[in-house]
Amino acid sequence: LGRELTYFDATESTQQIAHKLAQEGAEEGHVVVANEQTKGKGRLGRVWHSRSNTSISMSMILRPPLPPQKTPQLTLLAAVAVVQAIKKNTGLQCEIKWPNDILLKGKKLVGILTEMQADPDLVHSVIIGIGLNVNQTSEDFGEDIAHLATSLYLEKDGASGQPVDRARLIADILLEFEELYEEYLENGFQSIRPLWESYSISVGTYIYARMIKEVIYGYAKGITDDGVLLVEDESGKTHHIYSADIEIDP
Ligand code: BTN
Repeated sequence: LGRELTYFDATESTQQIAHKLAQEGAEEGHVVVANEQTKGKGRLGRVWHSRSNTSISMSMILRPPLPPQKTPQLTLLAAVAVVQAIKKNTGLQCEIKWPNDILLKGKKLVGILTEMQADPDLVHSVIIGIGLNVNQTSEDFGEDIAHLATSLYLEKDGASGQPVDRARLIADILLEFEELYEEYLENGFQSIRPLWESYSISVGTYIYARMIKEVIYGYAKGITDDGVLLVEDESGKTHHIYSADIEIDP
Protein backbone atom coordinates (compact mmCIF):
# COMPACT_ATOMS: atom_id res chain seq x y z
CA LEU A 1 0.00 0.00 0.00
CA GLY A 2 1.04 3.58 -0.50
CA ARG A 3 3.39 2.82 -3.36
CA GLU A 4 1.20 5.13 -5.41
CA LEU A 5 0.79 8.22 -3.30
CA THR A 6 -0.82 11.57 -4.12
CA TYR A 7 0.26 14.35 -1.79
CA PHE A 8 -1.29 17.79 -1.28
CA ASP A 9 -0.01 20.62 0.79
CA ALA A 10 -3.64 21.67 1.15
CA THR A 11 -6.85 20.24 -0.23
CA GLU A 12 -10.52 20.24 0.70
CA SER A 13 -10.69 16.56 1.61
CA THR A 14 -8.43 13.60 0.85
CA GLN A 15 -11.58 11.48 0.89
CA GLN A 16 -13.05 13.48 -1.97
CA ILE A 17 -9.81 13.19 -3.99
CA ALA A 18 -9.61 9.44 -3.34
CA HIS A 19 -13.17 8.98 -4.62
CA LYS A 20 -12.26 10.85 -7.78
CA LEU A 21 -9.07 8.84 -8.32
CA ALA A 22 -10.96 5.59 -7.72
CA GLN A 23 -13.52 6.59 -10.32
CA GLU A 24 -10.70 7.22 -12.74
CA GLY A 25 -9.44 3.69 -12.14
CA ALA A 26 -6.76 4.15 -9.46
CA GLU A 27 -5.33 0.87 -8.28
CA GLU A 28 -5.72 -0.79 -4.93
CA GLY A 29 -3.29 0.65 -2.43
CA HIS A 30 -3.24 4.18 -3.84
CA VAL A 31 -3.04 6.59 -0.92
CA VAL A 32 -3.92 10.29 -0.73
CA VAL A 33 -2.23 12.36 1.97
CA ALA A 34 -2.68 16.05 2.76
CA ASN A 35 -0.76 18.35 5.04
CA GLU A 36 -3.93 20.36 5.49
CA GLN A 37 -7.63 19.78 4.79
CA THR A 38 -9.94 22.72 4.46
CA LYS A 39 -13.20 20.78 4.28
CA GLY A 40 -12.64 17.46 6.06
CA LYS A 41 -15.55 15.05 6.13
CA GLY A 42 -16.59 13.19 9.26
CA ARG A 43 -19.10 10.44 9.82
CA LEU A 44 -22.83 11.15 9.51
CA GLY A 45 -22.26 14.34 7.54
CA ARG A 46 -20.21 15.96 10.29
CA VAL A 47 -17.28 18.28 9.68
CA TRP A 48 -13.79 17.00 10.52
CA HIS A 49 -11.24 19.59 11.60
CA SER A 50 -7.62 19.04 10.77
CA ARG A 51 -4.70 21.44 11.09
CA SER A 52 -1.79 22.09 8.77
CA ASN A 53 1.56 20.65 9.90
CA THR A 54 -0.20 19.00 12.81
CA SER A 55 -2.77 16.37 11.83
CA ILE A 56 -2.60 13.29 9.68
CA SER A 57 -5.23 13.29 6.94
CA MET A 58 -5.09 10.29 4.64
CA SER A 59 -7.39 8.18 2.48
CA MET A 60 -6.58 4.72 1.12
CA ILE A 61 -8.18 3.18 -1.95
CA LEU A 62 -8.86 -0.55 -1.71
CA ARG A 63 -10.45 -2.94 -4.15
CA PRO A 64 -11.20 -5.93 -1.95
CA PRO A 65 -12.28 -9.06 -3.81
CA LEU A 66 -15.16 -9.43 -1.37
CA PRO A 67 -18.89 -8.74 -1.28
CA PRO A 68 -19.73 -5.15 -0.26
CA GLN A 69 -21.37 -6.24 3.01
CA LYS A 70 -17.92 -7.20 4.29
CA THR A 71 -16.77 -3.59 4.05
CA PRO A 72 -17.36 -2.70 7.74
CA GLN A 73 -14.70 -5.25 8.65
CA LEU A 74 -12.13 -3.13 6.85
CA THR A 75 -12.86 -0.26 9.24
CA LEU A 76 -12.08 -2.56 12.13
CA LEU A 77 -8.84 -3.62 10.44
CA ALA A 78 -7.85 0.01 9.91
CA ALA A 79 -8.49 0.76 13.59
CA VAL A 80 -6.20 -2.11 14.66
CA ALA A 81 -3.50 -0.90 12.24
CA VAL A 82 -3.64 2.64 13.62
CA VAL A 83 -3.54 1.48 17.27
CA GLN A 84 -0.49 -0.67 16.55
CA ALA A 85 1.34 2.03 14.58
CA ILE A 86 0.73 4.55 17.38
CA LYS A 87 2.02 2.10 19.99
CA LYS A 88 5.16 1.51 17.93
CA ASN A 89 5.86 5.20 17.38
CA THR A 90 4.96 6.65 20.76
CA GLY A 91 4.51 3.80 23.23
CA LEU A 92 0.94 5.03 23.84
CA GLN A 93 -1.79 2.40 24.11
CA CYS A 94 -5.04 3.59 22.56
CA GLU A 95 -8.48 2.08 22.77
CA ILE A 96 -11.02 1.37 20.07
CA LYS A 97 -14.65 2.41 20.52
CA TRP A 98 -16.83 0.48 18.11
CA PRO A 99 -16.97 0.88 15.25
CA ASN A 100 -14.29 3.33 14.34
CA ASP A 101 -13.21 5.81 16.98
CA ILE A 102 -9.82 5.59 18.57
CA LEU A 103 -9.56 7.11 22.00
CA LEU A 104 -6.70 7.89 24.30
CA LYS A 105 -7.57 8.29 27.98
CA GLY A 106 -11.21 8.53 27.00
CA LYS A 107 -10.70 11.39 24.51
CA LYS A 108 -10.98 11.16 20.75
CA LEU A 109 -7.67 10.90 18.92
CA VAL A 110 -8.54 9.36 15.55
CA GLY A 111 -11.58 9.22 13.30
CA ILE A 112 -12.00 6.66 10.55
CA LEU A 113 -14.47 7.06 7.71
CA THR A 114 -15.11 4.12 5.39
CA GLU A 115 -17.05 4.68 2.20
CA MET A 116 -17.83 2.50 -0.76
CA GLN A 117 -18.04 3.25 -4.42
CA ALA A 118 -19.62 1.03 -7.01
CA ASP A 119 -17.80 1.28 -10.31
CA PRO A 120 -19.72 -0.27 -13.19
CA ASP A 121 -16.59 -1.44 -14.99
CA LEU A 122 -14.26 -2.06 -12.09
CA VAL A 123 -14.20 -4.03 -8.88
CA HIS A 124 -16.03 -1.85 -6.34
CA SER A 125 -13.74 0.36 -4.34
CA VAL A 126 -13.56 1.11 -0.66
CA ILE A 127 -12.11 4.37 0.57
CA ILE A 128 -10.82 4.40 4.11
CA GLY A 129 -10.14 7.87 5.47
CA ILE A 130 -8.07 8.32 8.59
CA GLY A 131 -7.84 11.58 10.50
CA LEU A 132 -5.39 11.62 13.37
CA ASN A 133 -4.59 14.34 15.90
CA VAL A 134 -0.81 14.24 16.10
CA ASN A 135 0.90 17.41 17.26
CA GLN A 136 -1.95 19.62 18.46
CA THR A 137 -1.23 21.58 21.61
CA SER A 138 -3.94 22.45 24.11
CA GLU A 139 -4.41 25.87 22.42
CA ASP A 140 -5.27 24.09 19.18
CA PHE A 141 -8.39 22.56 20.69
CA GLY A 142 -11.05 25.13 21.39
CA GLU A 143 -12.63 25.20 24.83
CA ASP A 144 -15.69 23.42 23.53
CA ILE A 145 -13.78 20.29 22.50
CA ALA A 146 -10.79 20.27 24.86
CA HIS A 147 -12.53 17.75 27.13
CA LEU A 148 -13.48 15.55 24.15
CA ALA A 149 -10.39 15.46 21.96
CA THR A 150 -6.66 14.97 22.42
CA SER A 151 -3.46 14.55 20.39
CA LEU A 152 -0.48 12.22 20.57
CA TYR A 153 1.77 15.14 21.49
CA LEU A 154 -0.47 16.09 24.44
CA GLU A 155 -0.46 12.57 25.85
CA LYS A 156 3.20 11.75 25.30
CA ASP A 157 5.87 12.78 27.85
CA GLY A 158 3.47 15.21 29.51
CA ALA A 159 3.41 17.32 26.33
CA SER A 160 7.04 18.34 26.83
CA GLY A 161 8.77 16.13 24.29
CA GLN A 162 9.54 16.31 20.60
CA PRO A 163 6.69 16.52 18.11
CA VAL A 164 5.72 13.17 16.61
CA ASP A 165 7.10 12.43 13.12
CA ARG A 166 3.99 12.29 10.94
CA ALA A 167 5.68 10.73 7.90
CA ARG A 168 6.98 7.81 9.96
CA LEU A 169 3.60 7.28 11.52
CA ILE A 170 1.85 7.30 8.13
CA ALA A 171 4.38 4.76 6.81
CA ASP A 172 3.79 2.52 9.83
CA ILE A 173 0.00 2.75 9.55
CA LEU A 174 0.31 1.59 5.94
CA LEU A 175 2.69 -1.23 6.84
CA GLU A 176 0.51 -2.45 9.71
CA PHE A 177 -2.61 -2.23 7.57
CA GLU A 178 -1.01 -4.09 4.69
CA GLU A 179 0.00 -6.94 6.97
CA LEU A 180 -3.48 -7.21 8.51
CA TYR A 181 -5.19 -6.92 5.12
CA GLU A 182 -3.15 -9.78 3.66
CA GLU A 183 -3.90 -11.93 6.69
CA TYR A 184 -7.58 -10.98 6.41
CA LEU A 185 -7.83 -11.80 2.72
CA GLU A 186 -6.21 -15.16 3.37
CA ASN A 187 -7.92 -16.24 6.59
CA GLY A 188 -10.93 -13.99 7.04
CA PHE A 189 -11.94 -11.64 9.83
CA GLN A 190 -11.84 -14.34 12.49
CA SER A 191 -8.05 -14.10 12.50
CA ILE A 192 -8.17 -10.35 13.26
CA ARG A 193 -11.11 -10.32 15.67
CA PRO A 194 -9.19 -11.30 18.85
CA LEU A 195 -6.74 -8.46 18.21
CA TRP A 196 -9.56 -5.96 17.66
CA GLU A 197 -11.32 -7.17 20.82
CA SER A 198 -8.14 -6.83 22.86
CA TYR A 199 -8.01 -3.08 22.04
CA SER A 200 -11.73 -2.49 22.32
CA ILE A 201 -13.35 -0.66 25.22
CA SER A 202 -16.88 -1.10 23.93
CA VAL A 203 -17.04 -4.85 24.38
CA GLY A 204 -17.63 -6.33 27.83
CA THR A 205 -19.25 -3.17 29.21
CA TYR A 206 -22.68 -1.57 29.43
CA ILE A 207 -23.33 0.91 26.65
CA TYR A 208 -25.90 3.17 25.07
CA ALA A 209 -26.17 2.59 21.32
CA ARG A 210 -27.68 5.75 19.85
CA MET A 211 -29.30 5.30 16.47
CA ILE A 212 -31.43 7.62 14.38
CA LYS A 213 -34.75 6.45 15.80
CA GLU A 214 -33.91 4.64 19.02
CA VAL A 215 -31.44 4.15 21.80
CA ILE A 216 -30.60 0.71 23.06
CA TYR A 217 -29.05 0.26 26.47
CA GLY A 218 -27.42 -3.01 27.33
CA TYR A 219 -24.35 -5.17 27.71
CA ALA A 220 -22.07 -5.27 24.67
CA LYS A 221 -21.27 -8.95 24.36
CA GLY A 222 -18.97 -8.84 21.38
CA ILE A 223 -18.84 -8.41 17.64
CA THR A 224 -19.77 -10.91 14.97
CA ASP A 225 -17.40 -11.96 12.22
CA ASP A 226 -19.12 -9.32 10.09
CA GLY A 227 -18.20 -6.60 12.57
CA VAL A 228 -21.74 -6.21 13.90
CA LEU A 229 -21.99 -5.24 17.59
CA LEU A 230 -24.09 -7.56 19.77
CA VAL A 231 -25.91 -5.85 22.64
CA GLU A 232 -28.04 -7.67 25.19
CA ASP A 233 -30.74 -5.50 26.71
CA GLU A 234 -32.18 -5.86 30.20
CA SER A 235 -34.87 -8.26 29.05
CA GLY A 236 -32.16 -10.61 27.75
CA LYS A 237 -32.83 -9.88 24.08
CA THR A 238 -29.77 -9.58 21.82
CA HIS A 239 -29.71 -6.70 19.34
CA HIS A 240 -27.53 -6.59 16.24
CA ILE A 241 -26.17 -3.07 15.89
CA TYR A 242 -24.93 -2.16 12.42
CA SER A 243 -24.38 1.55 12.88
CA ALA A 244 -24.69 3.75 15.94
CA ASP A 245 -22.93 6.21 18.20
CA ILE A 246 -21.80 4.38 21.28
CA GLU A 247 -21.65 5.86 24.73
CA ILE A 248 -20.00 3.82 27.41
CA ASP A 249 -21.92 3.75 30.67
CA PRO A 250 -19.39 5.03 33.21
C1 BTN B 1 -15.24 10.63 12.10
O1 BTN B 1 -16.28 11.31 11.96
O2 BTN B 1 -14.89 10.25 13.20
C2 BTN B 1 -14.43 10.25 10.89
C3 BTN B 1 -13.44 11.32 10.52
C4 BTN B 1 -12.60 10.97 9.30
C5 BTN B 1 -11.66 12.07 8.89
C6 BTN B 1 -10.73 11.69 7.79
S1 BTN B 1 -9.38 12.80 7.60
C7 BTN B 1 -8.92 12.02 6.11
C8 BTN B 1 -10.21 11.74 5.36
N1 BTN B 1 -10.64 12.88 4.59
C9 BTN B 1 -11.80 13.38 5.03
O3 BTN B 1 -12.38 14.38 4.53
N2 BTN B 1 -12.24 12.68 6.07
C10 BTN B 1 -11.34 11.57 6.40
